[in-house]
This record gives sequence, structure tokens and C-alpha cells, in this order.
Amino acid sequence: FETGSLAGLRLTITAGPTREPLDPVRYISNHSSGKMGFSLAQAAVSAGAHVTLISGPVNLATPDHVTRLDINSAQDMLQAAESDTAQCDIFIACAAVADYRPSAVAEHKIKKGKEEIMELHLIKNPDIVATIASKVNAPFTVGFAAETRDIVSYAQDKLVRKKLDLIIANDVSRTDIGFNSDDNAVTLVTADQVTELPMMRKRQLATSLIDHIAQLYKANR
Ligand code: C5P
Repeated sequence: FETGSLAGLRLTITAGPTREPLDPVRYISNHSSGKMGFSLAQAAVSAGAHVTLISGPVNLATPDHVTRLDINSAQDMLQAAESDTAQCDIFIACAAVADYRPSAVAEHKIKKGKEEIMELHLIKNPDIVATIASKVNAPFTVGFAAETRDIVSYAQDKLVRKKLDLIIANDVSRTDIGFNSDDNAVTLVTADQVTELPMMRKRQLATSLIDHIAQLYKANR
């Protein structure tokens, strides 16, 4: 049997960057390490949850007892998230999804031309967390927000716009925390609460976030 604050609950977590192909050898991506999502997956397993981790390309080992689905593009991440969240209780969107993708993927390697300027046409990617949150019988849905100013008000806007139950907001203007760092400090924003957590190691933060998520989930259902 399972014990812990998430005993028996099913969690789906997205993590890492997405890669948006231009041609067979090139892509657009970002520097997300995936550390936060992988730490959350590990903490959720420790809290008794069944966890599926939908991950973009990262250099991290899969935590024990986690089911990992590897994807590259945002569209593939959406497809995996839609199928996995049909059966889940809590969805945590931790991935740094590319906002845009090349509008066409060349079948063959794009050749260097004579022109000095090359234009790239991009098309907006689907918003994965908003898509899942707007479904009938949506899981308890958690999103992240990286902001450089007015953190709480932007997070509150995002919470409403994307129909989320919780936003975990962090200040990316600080160089000591966040992207590619082992530390993070965040503010939890729900429809009626704002809670600041102090700076701590990402692994410790993951445990604290999972505790908060479990409490909010139970208060909600
Ligand atoms: O709008 P913004 O990118 O700031 O929102 C960040 C949150 O939305 C994160 O939880 C991220 O995982 C999620 N997101 C998503 N699909 C996108 C863009 C963001 O799930 N296409």
C-alpha cells in the first residue's frame, strides 16, 4: 500500500525544453535543464503518487518509479499530455515550451544561399497547460510563470487566462536562482492566496511544492 500526501494519486508532469525542427538537422530550442520538473517527479513519487514525466531532450536520469515519455516538439508534448491527463488527478506543466515553431519543416537540409539575410517564418505553438486546463473534468492544473517584474499580478492574470488552479511564479531577473541554477525561490499564486517560499535547493523546493500542491488539491476536491 502507499502512504504520503499524494498516496494513490496520478500525476502528469511536463519538463525540459521542446525542440522545434527546421530541417532534418536543425531546430529552435531553449536552455531549460529540466531539473525542476524531474525534482518534482521524484518528490511526487516519494509522496506516494504514480507519476508520468513527459520530457523534452534533457541530460537527466529518470527518477526511480517514474514512467518517462520522451518527446521533442511542442506538438508531440501536447499529444502525450492529452493522452496521459485523460486519467490523471494533477497536471503540473513545468516544461519550457517553445512559443513558436518553424511554419514548415524542410524535407532536406536547407542549403546556404547567396543572400545575407534569411527570413524564418514561425507559427504559434499550442498552449499545452491551457489546453489541458480547459477540458471538461480537467485535472487540478499547476503552471509555472517566469517573470522579471510585477510577478504576482502577471501570475494572477496567467492563472485566470489559462484557467489554472495554481501558478508557481519565479523572478527570472535574479541571476542567483532559476534557469540552470540549483536554487530557486518562488511565489505560489491561487485564486485567493499568495504565498512566498524562501530560496532553497531545487530538490528541497520540490518537496515543499508537492506538499503545497497536495494540500490545495485536497482543499479543492
Ligand atoms: O505563458 P507562459 O509561457 O509564461 O506560461 C508558462 C506556463 O505555461 C508553464 O507552466 C509552461 O509549462 C506552460 N506552457 C505550456 N505550453 C506552452 C507555453 C507554456 O504548457 N505552449
